[in-house]
Amino acid sequence: MAIESATPDLKKVVAGAADFLPLLGTDYVELYVGNAKQAAHFYKTAFGFQSLAYAGLETGVKDRTSYVLVQDKIRLVLTTPLTQEHAINDHLRKHGDGVKEIALWVDDARKAYQETTSRGAISHFEPRVEKDADGEVVKSAIKLYGDTVHVFVERKNYKGTFLPGYKPWKSAYNPPTAGLKYVDHMVANVGWNQMNKWVEFYEKVMGFANVLGFDDKDISTEYSALMSKVMSNGNGRIKFPINEPAEGKKKSQIEEYLDFYNGEGVQHIAIATDDIVKTVRDLIARGVEFLKVPSTYYDGLLDRVGPIEEDLDPLRELGILVDRDDEGYLLQLFTKPLQDRPTLFIEIIQRKGAKSFGKGNFKALFEAIEREQEARGTL
Ligand code: FE2
Repeated sequence: MAIESATPDLKKVVAGAADFLPLLGTDYVELYVGNAKQAAHFYKTAFGFQSLAYAGLETGVKDRTSYVLVQDKIRLVLTTPLTQEHAINDHLRKHGDGVKEIALWVDDARKAYQETTSRGAISHFEPRVEKDADGEVVKSAIKLYGDTVHVFVERKNYKGTFLPGYKPWKSAYNPPTAGLKYVDHMVANVGWNQMNKWVEFYEKVMGFANVLGFDDKDISTEYSALMSKVMSNGNGRIKFPINEPAEGKKKSQIEEYLDFYNGEGVQHIAIATDDIVKTVRDLIARGVEFLKVPSTYYDGLLDRVGPIEEDLDPLRELGILVDRDDEGYLLQLFTKPLQDRPTLFIEIIQRKGAKSFGKGNFKALFEAIEREQEARGTL
């Protein structure tokens, strides 16, 4: 069952990634949701996203509505179908609210499509040009695990607000931002024995490198076990950890996800902040619910992770977790699921040099998740 353990020199391995698919960053993340209007209100109110763009009946789109929210470099698209026959309904019936598109910003969406499909990616849609008065965008897309897709977005000839077909969304309701900066990483949950298949996909099809790995001995509690490998593109900006369940005494949290999502999908979106104490305090005041580790977590914390710049008291008060690797430390915290199904959640992360993902916190965290699973009767 053992797979490779943590690879210390992240830079070297990322440098080993192939460069046939240069990625400039995460372009947007699109969620299919049951009620985009209300979801948009939630993400504005709770997480401090700002209104950016809109497409729907008023812009000539007859079958769906999309709200685009922005906070610093993060763009979130929330889409809901308007008609009974719409294919998005199938996605919603099966998965509930969840991530459909992980859009990657590229210089050349035709080349991205050609490079990936020629290496075995399955097409979601061929390169297509979308135009309006502000210019043109080229998009193409490939299929991923479950019903999730990567969309390649080439926007160098576009100067509009978001994408062709969207109009700027001016709202009278503009709650302040919460200091969320960019997508640090996005994690996939895949099925039993599927992790290495998707590791291989990211290596061969996308030119990513496997930079870290954990097995079930690293990450397990009495009940909840998983294995994980982290895939990174060459410039290190795009990181996709991939989890699969491992055998435990009772149901792994990954299995619980797979049951409620009815298959593979995005487990969490990790978002970076420059001041996690301020951000988390703000988010809690806005009603965001976080997983809580027992206060014993903080006993001997500094012995475990060494000196940190932050005061321990606010970390303990807010339940913020700390972990260290060879290059520094990180602070992180995980929300409870964002919808009624125990599926997608958000991680807030602040990196102080560390390039890893908080392995040292997994046990404490999983025990917190198990207490939630116990309450849901799904352990
Ligand atoms: Fe994470």
